[in-house]
Amino acid sequence: MHEVSRRDIVIMVTGAAGNLGAAVVKEFTASGARVVSVERDSVPQAVPEDGSGGGRLDIAGIDLADPAACQDAVQRALDAFGRIDVLVNTVGGFGTGPVHETGLDQWDQLFQMNARTAYAISAAVLKPMREAAYGRIVHIAAAPGLKAGANQAAYAASKAAVIRLTEAIAAENRELRITANCILPGTIDTPQNRAAMPNAKTDGWVQPADIAKLIGFLVSPVGGIVTGAAIPATGPV
Ligand SMILES: NC(=O)c1ccc[n+]([C@@H]2O[C@H](COP(=O)([O-])OP(=O)(O)OC[C@H]3O[C@@H](n4cnc5c(N)ncnc54)[C@H](OP(=O)(O)O)[C@@H]3O)[C@@H](O)[C@H]2O)c1
Repeated sequence: MHEVSRRDIVIMVTGAAGNLGAAVVKEFTASGARVVSVERDSVPQAVPEDGSGGGRLDIAGIDLADPAACQDAVQRALDAFGRIDVLVNTVGGFGTGPVHETGLDQWDQLFQMNARTAYAISAAVLKPMREAAYGRIVHIAAAPGLKAGANQAAYAASKAAVIRLTEAIAAENRELRITANCILPGTIDTPQNRAAMPNAKTDGWVQPADIAKLIGFLVSPVGGIVTGAAIPATGPV
């Protein structure tokens, strides 16, 4: 049985070039963890390679909707570090529109972007985690996954799928000391949100770095008491 301290952790972060993904990479690199950054295109250096981190592997060109690509990323992480203790999957996307006019393209696109990706990377990391009898999985869903509002059908349903997926993984793997949780962030303070909502009151928005710290707790040894949860991260702070 191994308990993995923050410094010894091997953590895979997907969507590593995104707003939240970059914050998670920064949080864990700073504490000396071995971080595997996975991205569809290129992975910008969120943290300077100054040797303070315990090791870093950047994997680009991985479409998380493709199960073979997910397995490839997992194998490359295993080749580099021998195990994967933690998956933090930040891949996801957003879209809105009323059901009577938006159409199935958006429905399919958001299920692909939010739900299929989460399933494919979960399946890939669960194999080595089950062999090791240890693991921590964190997905990012959203509050509409619990109850949809107007214009949110595809987004809410696809994030609901992430919540249900997380619950099933937690139930299937609790005997193997593998936890699975998801976070439901409020509006994250990102350049894109600021550009899209120039007149919004931003004090209640959530900082990516604060969500990264919450993730830090969930993936810690003591965080193992939380599994199957959908945790709101909506402030106030
Ligand atoms: N931002 C918010 O206010 C907010 C609120 C609630 C929940 N969330 C959720 O929180 C998570 C992170 O949000 P964020 O603002 O950090 O998003 P973001 O900046 O858009 O980052 C998402 C990352 O995922 C990557 N990605 C998308 N589809 C992919 C695929 N099929 N394969 C591999 N990578 C893929 C994107 O790469 P590309 O650049 O190539 O597309 C991007 O780097 C998402 O799941 C989002 O739905 C966000």
